[in-house]
Order: sequence, then C-alpha cells, then structure tokens
Amino acid sequence: MKVTQAEFMISAAGPAQFPEDALPEIALAGRSNVGKSSLINKMILRKNLARTSSQPGKTQLLNYYRINESLYFVDFPGYGYAKVSKTQREQWGRMIEEYLKTREPLKLILHVIDLRHEPSKDDQAMYDWLKHYGLPVCIVATKADKIPKSKWQKHIKMVKETLQADPQDKVILFSSETGLGRDELWLHILQACGL
Ligand code: GTP
Ligand code: MG
Repeated sequence: MKVTQAEFMISAAGPAQFPEDALPEIALAGRSNVGKSSLINKMILRKNLARTSSQPGKTQLLNYYRINESLYFVDFPGYGYAKVSKTQREQWGRMIEEYLKTREPLKLILHVIDLRHEPSKDDQAMYDWLKHYGLPVCIVATKADKIPKSKWQKHIKMVKETLQADPQDKVILFSSETGLGRDELWLHILQACGL
C-alpha cells in the first residue's frame, strides 16, 4: 500500500471523541514498550508520527491516526507497566472494554507481541479477552531483527502455543527496524477493511 497521507487526529478519552466518519479502524494492543507506535510509524514510513510516550503507562487515551483518508490506526495505551496504579489499570480496562464491545468500525486488532520472549500473563489475558469478544485478531510478533533468523520459527511456535492461538488468527513476523512483514501486514489489513 502506498501511503500518501498520514495524520494524527485525536487522543480520545472516550466515545464522545471517537471519529464519526465510520472509516474502518485497526487497533493496536500490546505490552508497554513492545513496539506498537514503532509499528505504526513503519507501516506509514514516517519516523515519528506515532509518538512514544516518555512516561509509559501514564497515557490512558486512544490515539487515532488517519491513513490515506481511508482507515484509522488506533494506538491503545500499553498494558503491563508495573508502576501503574490499580485505579489507572481499572480505568484502562473500562475504556478498552467499552471500545472493543461497542465500536462498530473496528475491523481488526493487531495484538503486538515481542518475538523474543514467551508471551507474558498479561499478553495471555489480553488475547483471551479479545477472543472472548469474538474479535478478529492478527498476532504481530515484532522485534524479529533482535534474534537470528534461524530461531524465528521456533519462537513463532512458542508464541502460538503460549497464547493457545486460534488457528484462524494470522501470525505475522515483523520488524520495525528492517520492515520485515510490512507488505504482508498491509495486505491483511486492507483485506480486513474490505479495501
Ligand atoms: P508504549 O507506547 O509505552 O506502550 O510503547 P510502544 O509499544 O508504543 O513501544 P515503542 O514503539 O515506543 O517502542 C519501544 C522501544 O522498542 C523503542 O526504543 C523502539 O525503538 C524499540 N523497537 C520497537 N520496535 C522494534 C523493532 O522491531 N526492532 C527493534 N530492534 N527495536 C524496536
Ligand atoms: Mg506507544
């Protein structure tokens, strides 16, 4: 996909601020620091449009990026950051749950996982939650550049097994450093959006 336009739209605190133009939405869920914002930047070939927060876990907002006036990337606040208070975690849960349950334009969730490590308890809980709502998920195993190619398949297997991934969910090897997986992910996104 040739990205000709990419713009930050809004940091939405709740449904009242979600866009109303009904363009398809692709949401990104993943652990804090796993590489969600870097993935967005790689997909749109911009260095810094999706900003990385200096205070992980602080932001409780959904960041909307509009691409080619035809779809949105919705960057979720990362989970699993140890210093987040219980109140903040609950607030995060309520906002994400509301979004996942009710957001009609939501077409696909990119569940971003670190290829190097076994998915955490939080990763497993997130994946189970997404499947509980019957949502279409694409597992994106990122930071592939950080391990040797010879180990990729072994790690992919570990990710799938630990999450007990639904065989229907696509798993894509990715690297925001090298662009590995970018074309494959775009194809999958466009297909999910019916574009
Ligand atoms: P939060 O917004 O805090 O939830 O983090 P995030 O998931 O958006 O992660 P972010 O994109 O900010 O990336 C975190 C760190 O990982 C940064 O230092 C990135 O440069 C690095 N990083 C992200 N993706 C990759 C990748 O594919 N390869 C390598 N080598 N580094 C990556
Ligand atoms: Mg981020």
